[in-house]
This record gives sequence, C-alpha cells and structure tokens, in this order.
Amino acid sequence: MNPQIEVSPTQRIRLLKQWLVFVPLLAFSAFVLMANAFSAPPPSGAETFKAKCSMCHGPDGAGATPMGQKFKLRDLRSSDVQKQTDEQLTEVIAKGKPPMAAFGKSLSPGDIQQLVAYIRSIAKG
Ligand code: HEC
Repeated sequence: MNPQIEVSPTQRIRLLKQWLVFVPLLAFSAFVLMANAFSAPPPSGAETFKAKCSMCHGPDGAGATPMGQKFKLRDLRSSDVQKQTDEQLTEVIAKGKPPMAAFGKSLSPGDIQQLVAYIRSIAKG
C-alpha cells in the first residue's frame, strides 16, 4: 500500500556527510557574494585624481591652477605628456618629480595604474 523508500544506515551517513560539506559551502558562497555586493567599490582613477592631483594639475588635467602656473605644468592631455609610455607616467607618479611629491608610498600600484588609465582617458583627440 504505502511504498516506503528504504534508506540503509550507511546511505544515511553518506547523505549526512554530503550535507555537512554542501551546506557550509553554500553559506560561505552566499556570504562572499553579499560581502562583495555591499562593500564600497575601490576609488576609480578619476576620484583619486580629483583628491590628490587636481590641486596642481586641475580637475581636467590642464594644469590651469595657481600651482600649475607657478610650476609651468604641462597639460596632461597634451601630446607631450601622452606620448610617454605607461611605464614613464607610472614612474613619475610613483617617484615624483620635484616639486611634485612621490605617490608611491601613499598610493598602491593599482591606484597608480588607474591614474595612468585616467590620464589616457582625458587625452585630447
Ligand atoms: C604639488 C603639485 C602637484 C601635485 C599634487 C601633483 N603633481 Fe604631477 N606634477 C607636478 C609637477 C611640478 C610636475 C613636473 C612638471 C615638469 O615636468 O616640469 C608634475 C608632473 C607630472 C606628470 C608628468 C607630466 C609631464 O609633463 O611629463 C604626471 C603624469 C603627473 N604629474 C601626474 C600626477 C598625478 C597622477 C598626481 C596625483 C597622484 C599628481 N601629478 C599630483 C605637480 C604636482
């Protein structure tokens, strides 16, 4: 009448073991996904530039600031600056070029990479 599914004790233990692995794994994946969704994204090159560079180079990179005029800054969008390689720009930002401070200690290599990408993105033409 009432067909019952027979589960032997060994099968029961095997099922239990599978759950013991599967459930924490699922919980952990869910936790990682949530943590990613709620943590603030890292600042983009544009944000870092605004915070650390625009007081001299100007918000648009043109260098039209009192500091920029005093130091005769080249427009970061100009070909004189853009023709340099990513490595050269990275080095200037990391090591500085007096009176520009070296940012290698206060910014991570990833931040500097983003800044170089940002400088590329504002290039003229
Ligand atoms: C205190 C003012 C100041 C700040 C802040 C500053 N710079 Fe500079 N920057 C300079 C000066 C001065 C130069 C050198 C200009 C020269 O070559 O004569 C320079 C040069 C550069 C160059 C090389 C450009 C060229 O002419 O070849 C790059 C790239 C650069 N800065 C990027 C940055 C970035 C990115 C930041 C922010 C992390 C930053 N700078 C912050 C003053 C500043």
